[in-house]
Amino acid sequence: MNKLILNADIKKGKINRNIYGHFAEHLGRCIYEGIWVGEDSDIPNTRGIRNDVVEALKEIDIPVLRWPGGCFADEYHWKDGVGPREKRAKIVNTHWGGVTENNHFGTHEFLDLCEQLNAEPYICGNVGSGTVYEMQQWVEYMTFAGESPMTNWRQENGRDKPWKLRYFGVGNENWGCGGNMRPEYYADLYRRYQTYVRNYGDNKIYKIACGPNTDDYEWMEILMSRAGKYMDGLSLHYYTVPGDWENKGSATDFDKKEWFNTLKKALYMEELIEKHSTIMDKYDPDKKVGLIVDEWGAWYNVEPNTNPGFLYQQNSLRDALIAGINLNIYNNHCDRVQMANIAQTINVLQAMVLTRGEEILLTPTYHVFEMYKVHQDAQLLDFNLVSEDYQMEDESIPAVNGSTSVDREGNINITLCNLKDDKNIKLECVCNSTELAISDLKGRVLTSDKLNAHNTFEDKNRVKPQQFDDYNLTKDGFQVNLPSSSVVRLTIKG
Ligand code: AHR
Repeated sequence: MNKLILNADIKKGKINRNIYGHFAEHLGRCIYEGIWVGEDSDIPNTRGIRNDVVEALKEIDIPVLRWPGGCFADEYHWKDGVGPREKRAKIVNTHWGGVTENNHFGTHEFLDLCEQLNAEPYICGNVGSGTVYEMQQWVEYMTFAGESPMTNWRQENGRDKPWKLRYFGVGNENWGCGGNMRPEYYADLYRRYQTYVRNYGDNKIYKIACGPNTDDYEWMEILMSRAGKYMDGLSLHYYTVPGDWENKGSATDFDKKEWFNTLKKALYMEELIEKHSTIMDKYDPDKKVGLIVDEWGAWYNVEPNTNPGFLYQQNSLRDALIAGINLNIYNNHCDRVQMANIAQTINVLQAMVLTRGEEILLTPTYHVFEMYKVHQDAQLLDFNLVSEDYQMEDESIPAVNGSTSVDREGNINITLCNLKDDKNIKLECVCNSTELAISDLKGRVLTSDKLNAHNTFEDKNRVKPQQFDDYNLTKDGFQVNLPSSSVVRLTIKG
């Protein structure tokens, strides 16, 4: 009944590595403590950026990192964050806890972080409370090589050569925290602001407009019709919230019903992408404009006794499934989805890494990104997945979710999520290919005996990937026994 037919000779397009992107905002302990500790810290660091975090993130090959927000972006004035640190403006972070932001982590520090990670920077500009001139000067400051006031200032601040900057967002959530605008108004503002986001020398900017919240199809329609030809990408934000915004639900204290509901809500991403893509297709049939899912992930109630404005939450096996499901969906829609940025890298929402003083731990979500990194820049393969239903009371969702790609060396990677809370699933895989003869198949699995299993500073390796070999070769493929509540990666050696 459960069957995967893999058409291994049919390539459906490149999975943009940027689908595996991340997002780091000036929010809670993401930037400060999580990334930036300062040069004088006892925590080992390189120019103020903590080494343990950089090492951990390098393992998952972060392709692109979005900064400085989020809601913070539309209140951020970049000039506050350059020059000698002791002279930088101390401002209020109004969105996130009302704490004082000392601006010690600014443009130079962010771009240094990207260089240390070997990741592309994706900077989000301020439309909500910033000027066109300010945005124009920021891009000039970062990317212009010739003599100019901004180049001179950058050089005084210690950076001689410009940086390469490809991704630039023109505002964030301008339908909400970024100015509460109507789509018609933002579409006009977008056209105006983007005009001055210049390409200096050979630096070519990929301009990303603020797209819709969740299922706001009207926003998509209006942006595409009025401003589509001025953009390279358009964002989409959707968070997986088990409950509602008033009471989102706990990160670790949930029952089977809530497990099911959460995964059902994660699967909703597919419908959103398909419906938004249909609208985009109307105005952009050649798919020149990328759908940029630059905020996604699980959003729960904050951990007890933590600052509600800091959005600190634990990360369990359920988050691993949410990550696996979403990444499979993005891979499968790689014709339109050109980037996705999970929120947020460290200590905030569905994080990769949690820190406590000098200690760090890797979350189940981190491990999924590590397992899935093989898909980056690989070719999506055609497949058909027939799955039994996962039933809960009167609702049902497909029990298995997956995607499959072939890398440059010819290795085929199949990533599969078994969503069922208590049932292993036998999946028969038929590989159609004129060339492929499977002899070398390897597997890895991320699962646990408890749905809410998570890593803590006392037990950092409670949830981590293991070798997996519960499969056998058949005459036309293989059969695999997917453990309940698991993320599995199978690799057919090319
Ligand atoms: O990621 C947290 C917040 O969620 C971002 O600042 C905002 O863009 C979104 O509403």
